[in-house]
Amino acid sequence: MKKLFLLTVIMALWCCSDKTGEADNMKIFVDELMRKMTLEEKIGQLNLPTVGFDVTGPILSSDVEAKIKAGLVGGVFNTFTPTAVRKLQEIAVNETRLHIPLIFGYDVIHGHRTIFPIPLGISATWDTDLIEKVAVSVADEATADGLHWTFSPMVDIARDPRWGRVSEGAGEDPFLGSAIAKAMVKGYEQGDLSNPNTLMSCIKHFALYGAAEAGRDYNTVDMSKIRMYNEYLPPYKAAVDAGASSVMTSFNEVDGIPATGNKWLLNDLLRLQWGFEGFVVTDYTAIMEMENHGVGNSEQVTERSINAGVDMDMVSEYMLKYLPALVKSGKIPEKQIDSACRRILEAKYKLGLFSDPFRGLSEERADTHIMSDEKLDLCREAAEKSFVLLKNENQVLPLNKNQKIAFIGPLIKDQRNLIGNWSGAGDWKRAESIWSALVEKFGTAHFDYALGCNLIDDSCLMKKLNQNGGQLTIDPLSPQQLINQALQIARNADVIVAALGEPFGMSGEAASRSDISLPENQKTLLKALKNTGKPIVLLLMNGRPLCLQWENDNLDAILETWYPGTKAGEAIVNTIFGIANPSGKLSISFPRNVGQIPIYYNHKNTGRPMQEEQKYTSKYLDVSNDPLYPFGYGLSYSDFEYADLSLSDSILSENGRITASVTLTNKGAVEATETVQLYIRDLAGSITRPVKELKGFQQVSLQPGESKNVAFTIDTELLKFYNAALKYVCEPGDFHVFIGGNSATKAHVGFTLK
Ligand code: BGC
Repeated sequence: MKKLFLLTVIMALWCCSDKTGEADNMKIFVDELMRKMTLEEKIGQLNLPTVGFDVTGPILSSDVEAKIKAGLVGGVFNTFTPTAVRKLQEIAVNETRLHIPLIFGYDVIHGHRTIFPIPLGISATWDTDLIEKVAVSVADEATADGLHWTFSPMVDIARDPRWGRVSEGAGEDPFLGSAIAKAMVKGYEQGDLSNPNTLMSCIKHFALYGAAEAGRDYNTVDMSKIRMYNEYLPPYKAAVDAGASSVMTSFNEVDGIPATGNKWLLNDLLRLQWGFEGFVVTDYTAIMEMENHGVGNSEQVTERSINAGVDMDMVSEYMLKYLPALVKSGKIPEKQIDSACRRILEAKYKLGLFSDPFRGLSEERADTHIMSDEKLDLCREAAEKSFVLLKNENQVLPLNKNQKIAFIGPLIKDQRNLIGNWSGAGDWKRAESIWSALVEKFGTAHFDYALGCNLIDDSCLMKKLNQNGGQLTIDPLSPQQLINQALQIARNADVIVAALGEPFGMSGEAASRSDISLPENQKTLLKALKNTGKPIVLLLMNGRPLCLQWENDNLDAILETWYPGTKAGEAIVNTIFGIANPSGKLSISFPRNVGQIPIYYNHKNTGRPMQEEQKYTSKYLDVSNDPLYPFGYGLSYSDFEYADLSLSDSILSENGRITASVTLTNKGAVEATETVQLYIRDLAGSITRPVKELKGFQQVSLQPGESKNVAFTIDTELLKFYNAALKYVCEPGDFHVFIGGNSATKAHVGFTLK
C-alpha cells in the first residue's frame, strides 16, 4: 500500500493541466514503474484471464488469485459488482510487489443491467445523438458496477444475415456504421477516461469478422484490398479517429494470415497508417487458435502475435507461458514486451487507476445509478425508436384499445427473450412482457391471449440452444391443440396480434443459420390464423434479417422489434396503440430468400446489369434481384412526400460545395419523424464504383401537413474513395444525387465535378 501511495504522490506531483504535459507525466510515471518491473511482471500485464461466468470458450486459467498475487495478471473479465471487483483489486494493490491495479472488462454490449435494444436494433434508429446518450448511460451504469472496460462497439460490416452476429453490429453500410461507431466511442469514453463514469471502449473485431464465408461463424475471410478499404474498414477507422482506447483482434484470417498474428493489419495499418495509440487485445483464445489455423506451434503463434502488435492475450495464457523463454532465447527482443506492457499501463493511467484503483466503486453509487428511472426511460425511448414498420396495409396499425384483440404467440408473455443475447448482467425477470404492459395500460377487458405455438418445436435445435442457457421449453399441449386454442380466440377477435420470431439464442455468437425464415411451427400457426380471414399484425423479435416473403404477402402489418430490452413491453404497447409512431429504418437489407445472400444496396453495377427482358444479364431465374425490404427502409403511421429534388449548382469545383435539397411533407394525420437519406453515385471512376452510396442522413419531425426543406452539403471530401493504389481520392466526372426515404429511391439529379 505504501508503494502505491508513493507512486500516487509521484504522479500527483507531475500533474498539470495541458494535454502534452499530461502525456509527459504519463510517460515519466510509466517509465519509473517499468524500471522496477521484472520481465515476468511485464509479461503478467499482458495476461487477461476470465474470472466469473459468461464465457464463450474454454476457461484455461486456474488459480487466478494466486497469479494476481504473483503479478501475473494485467486485467480480468467477467467479474463485476463493487464487492467482487474490490476483492480482486485489493489483492492486486495490497498483495503484489508493485501494487499495480487490474483492469476489469466485460461484454457490455447493449446495456449492462438496464438492457437496451440489441445493436442491430439500435442502429435502426439512425439517431446518433440517441446512440451516444445510450452509451453515456451504459457507461455510467457499468462503472457503477465496478467495470472499467467494455468489449464494444462491434463495428464489423455484415452483409450476410446467416451470420448470427449481425445482431451485434450496425448492419451493412460503412457510412452509417462509421457514424454509429463514433457515437458509441464518444459516449463510452467522453474524451476523458479519468472521469469515473466513463468506460474504456474496445473496437472489435479487427478486422473483417463480418465477412465470414457463407455466414458461418469464425469462418475464413478473403477480400480484395479495394473492398476492404472502401467498404469494410471505414467503421474501425472512424472509431479509432473518435479516440477508442483499445482494439480487439478478430478470429478470422485477413489476406491468409490470422488477424491475431497479422503485422500488416495490427501494425502497418492500425498503428502506422491510422495512428492508433491504444492497446490491442486478442479475442477469446485467439492466439491459441492460430495453431488450428495452421500457422505454427504454441511458441510460434505466440511469437507471431507479439510481433504483429498484440498487447494483451485474452484467456489463452500463451504469452504468460511462452514469452519468458522466447525473450531469454533472444527470439523476441525485450523491448517488444516493453511496448506492449507500456500500452497496458498507459491505459490504466488514463483510467486513473493509479490514483484510485477503486475508481467509482461505491455501493451507494451502484444502488442509485443502476437501473435508475432515467435509464429505464431512455431504454424505452431507444426501443420505440428502433422499431421498423415493415408493412401496414389498410392502416391496421395503430390499434384501438376498444377493438377486440387476440394476442397470440410465445413472445406475448415471454420475458427472457426480450433482452436478447449478450445481456449477461441483465436480469430478464425485470424485463417487461408485452402482456404485463398491456394489463398495466389498459386492463385486459378486450384482450384475449393464447400461446398458439412453442417458440420452436425442433428438439434437436432446442437441445443446442439450451446448452448455453437457452431456457426453451415445450408446452404439454400438442402443436395442434395450441393452434386450436389460438383459433378459438382469433375467430372472436377484430384483429390478431401475433408475437413471433427467433429465440434469442438463435442469433449472436456461434449462431449461424442456413435457413433464416421463421421456425416451421410458427409458420404453421400463421397459416392457420390467416384462414380465419381476420387482419393479422405480426410483431417480430429476431436478431437478424429474416426471409419474410410469405409473411409480407399474406399478413396485414409487420412490426420488426428486434430484441427491445428491459422496457420491451411498454415500448411495443405504446407503438402498436399509436402512442409512439415508428420511425426506425433498416440498417441491413432483408432478402427474399437465402439464395440472394449476400445482398446489399451498395453493390457494383456489373457489365451486364439486370434487365428483366434480356436473358444474358445479371439476375436469377427464380427470384428478383431486389431485397424484400431494402436498406434504409421503414414506414411510419404517417406518409411522407418527397418533392423538388434540386441542386444549387450542376458544377462542383475542387474546393467548392453545392447543396442538394428536397421538400419533405408529412401527408398523414399524425406527427412523425422521417430519416431523410442522401445517396450519391459516381458514374465513372478509375475503379468500378457502387450503384449508390449513403453519404448523409438527417432526421426531421413534422406535424401533419407540415413541409420542410431538407438540405445536404456536398463537397469533394464526400466523394472520396480508395483507388487501385489505395490512395484516398476524388475523381472528376459526373455524379447522381438521390434523396429519399430508403436506398431504393430512384429520383435523382446530377452534377459534374470539375
Ligand atoms: C467474442 C468477443 C467477446 C469475447 C469475450 C469472444 O468469443 O468473439 O466478441 O468480446 O468472447 O467474451
